[in-house]
Amino acid sequence: MAVTSSSERGSWNSKLGFILAAAGSAVGLGNIWGFPTKVATEGGGAYLVIYLLCTFLIGFPVMVAELSIGRKSGKNPVGAFKALSSNKFFPLVGLWGVICGVMILSFYTVIAGWAFGYAFEEIFYYLGWDAAAAWLTDTGNGPKNALIASVFMLGTIKIITGGVSNGIEKATKTMMPMLIGIIVIMIGYVLTQPGASEGVKEYLLPDFSRINAGLIFSAMGQAFFSLSLGMGALITYGSYLSKKENIPQAAAFVTLADVGIAFLAGLMIIPAMYVAQAAGIEIFVGDQLASSTDLVFQILPALFHTIGGAVGLILGVVFFLLLSIAALTSTISLLEVPVAFVIDEYSVPRKKAAYGVGLGILVISIIISFNPALIGTFDSIFNNLGLPIGGLLMCIFVGFVWKTDSALSEMEHGFEGIKQTLFAKVWPVFIWIICPAAIAYNIISNFL
Ligand code: TRP
Repeated sequence: MAVTSSSERGSWNSKLGFILAAAGSAVGLGNIWGFPTKVATEGGGAYLVIYLLCTFLIGFPVMVAELSIGRKSGKNPVGAFKALSSNKFFPLVGLWGVICGVMILSFYTVIAGWAFGYAFEEIFYYLGWDAAAAWLTDTGNGPKNALIASVFMLGTIKIITGGVSNGIEKATKTMMPMLIGIIVIMIGYVLTQPGASEGVKEYLLPDFSRINAGLIFSAMGQAFFSLSLGMGALITYGSYLSKKENIPQAAAFVTLADVGIAFLAGLMIIPAMYVAQAAGIEIFVGDQLASSTDLVFQILPALFHTIGGAVGLILGVVFFLLLSIAALTSTISLLEVPVAFVIDEYSVPRKKAAYGVGLGILVISIIISFNPALIGTFDSIFNNLGLPIGGLLMCIFVGFVWKTDSALSEMEHGFEGIKQTLFAKVWPVFIWIICPAAIAYNIISNFL
C-alpha cells in the first residue's frame, strides 16, 4: 500500500486496487495446488459440491464480516477487536489469527518455492540438462527447498516494505487473466487426450455416498484457506479500504474470482491425472493416490512434457511463473497481517517490522524445507482447524458483541440504503446462526 508520511499505515490506490489485492490474496496455491489435490484424494465431484456450498454459504458471509471489522476499525486483527469492543477475549482471537498466518506462511513459502523451481525445471528439461531438472523436481531436497523458499520470502518482504499497492495491483491485474487463459488452453489440450473423460466424470459427476464428516471438514477448511479467511487477512486488507467502496459487492467479486479459478484448475488437473495414468505414469496405488502434497507438481510437468517442444516449454514456463506470482500475491497478504500487527501495536516502522517478522518466519520455513512431511501437520492444525475456528469466533463477535447492525451501518458507506435490502435481512441470520452452527457442527462431527 502507498505508505503515507503521517503514518506507517497506507491505503489502496483505487477501488480496483483493493479488489485486485484481495483477489490476489485469495487466488494462489490454494486454488491450483490445494483444491485439486483434495478433490483427487477426498471425494471427486462430491468434494466439489461441498466445497462450493462451504464457499458461498459460510465463506462469503464471513468475508463480508471481516471486511466490515477491518474498515470500521482501521486496524490489524488484534487492534481491530480492541477498537470495536472492550471485551478482553476477542483480541486473543485476533492474536490466534496472527499466529495461524505466521504458521501458514511458513509452509506456504516452501510450496511456492516448488512452483517457482518448476519454471526453471521446464527450461532445463527442454535443454536436456537432466541432472539440473531432476534437482529441481526433488521436493524432498532440504537445501534446495530452503534456498528457493528464502528467495521467495525475501521477495515478499521487499514488496511489503514499500509501494505495495502498485506492486500487488499491477501484478494481479495482468496475472489473473493470463492465468485463466493458460488454464483454459490446458483444459482444451487435456480433454482431447486418452483417459480424460474418466477424469471429467470423476470431477463433475458427484457420488454423494462419498460425503462424510471428514470430507466436509476438509472442504470447509479449504474454503477458508482459499478465500484467505479466518485469520484476519481481510480485516487487515479492509483496514486500508476507502469508505467509498461497496463491501458486499467487493466480497462477491473476490469470492467468484477465487471459486472460478479453483474450478478451472480442477477441470485441468483431475482429468490430467487420468491422462497420466492412461499414459502409464503411476498415479493411483489401488484406489489411493500414490502421493499427495506434491502430486500436482508431478502431474503438471508431465503434461507440459507430453506436449513437448517449444510449445510445451513456453506453456510450462509461463504457467509456473504465473503460479509463482499468484503465490506471491498470497504470501504478501499472509505476511502483511503480522507486520500490520507489529506496526500498529508496537509502533515499529514498516521496514523493520517486515524484515523482523519475515526473517523470523523464514526460520520456520527452513525447518519445514528439511522436513516437508510437516506440511501436512501444519495444514491440518492451522488451516483446517485454525481458520474455521477463527471464522466461528468472528461470527460470534460480529453477531453478538459488535452487532450485525453496526456492521451494516459500516456497510452503508459505499452501499447507501443497504439496510432496506434483502441482504440486510439475510446476512445477519448467517452470521448469528447458520455460519457458526455449521462450523461448530463440522468441527465436532469430524472429531467424533
Ligand atoms: N488464499 C491463498 C491461496 O489460496 C492463501 C492465503 C493467502 C491465505 N492469505 C491467506 C490463507 C490468509 C488463509 C489466510 O493460496
